[in-house]
Amino acid sequence: MRIIIVENYEEMSKKAAAMMASQIILKPESVLGLATGDTPLGMYKELIRMYNENMIDFSKVKTFNLDEYYGLGKDSNQSYNYYMTNNLFKHINIDKENINIPNGMVKNIEEECISYEKRIKEAGGIDIQVLGIGVNGHIGFNEPDVNFEAETHLVNLDEKTIESNSRFFKCIEEVPTKAISMGIKTIMHSKKIVLLANGASKADAIAKTVNGKISPEVPASILQLHQDVAIIVDKEAASKL
Ligand code: GLP
Repeated sequence: MRIIIVENYEEMSKKAAAMMASQIILKPESVLGLATGDTPLGMYKELIRMYNENMIDFSKVKTFNLDEYYGLGKDSNQSYNYYMTNNLFKHINIDKENINIPNGMVKNIEEECISYEKRIKEAGGIDIQVLGIGVNGHIGFNEPDVNFEAETHLVNLDEKTIESNSRFFKCIEEVPTKAISMGIKTIMHSKKIVLLANGASKADAIAKTVNGKISPEVPASILQLHQDVAIIVDKEAASKL
């Protein structure tokens, strides 16, 4: 693991965007694994800026998002599909055909999960996966007591996650209790991983991820076994390292 401690959110976002941009410049047909949440918003803004300044071209890029709430469609403004469209995709020249996000509205979840894995494999695997981290150490929506062997699957959200994500909804009752998420196995098969975290609320999760025992109780701790992970954290998130 390479730990990169930066001054603040802006620096974290710029460093992460620079890594993504160099991946796209080196390999224009890169397969990007993308994340949602507040953490990567600054990175997306920076990537849009680089695109507007003709520094990067997304026309051949393929993307796979980590997760989606079960039961929320792309028109719901809380869905991750809506988030991705508004915070990145509508601002860049990505081909819609190359965008992949789990479909939270399908009847046959199992089929959707199998097809998602198949699409990732057919694309040649994920070249670089961006991750945020939950306060309980989750990555994607792989909650504590995770099965490290799982691929894309339906998950039950942890109480802490529901509480923490309720800030995006009108009330806690509106937060879906399930989601479709890439599994740990899917994430671990990415060629490179960049995990971003900022703020004091993430300090515990980061300390356990980096220095703790590798355990299903802290899903992100498995990243210690990945051969190419960069963790970019601001001073506050690094305060317990
Ligand atoms: C959600 C997402 C994760 C994300 C996490 C942290 O639960 N499924 O992918 O990393 O929240 O979110 P934030 O970046 O808003 O702190």
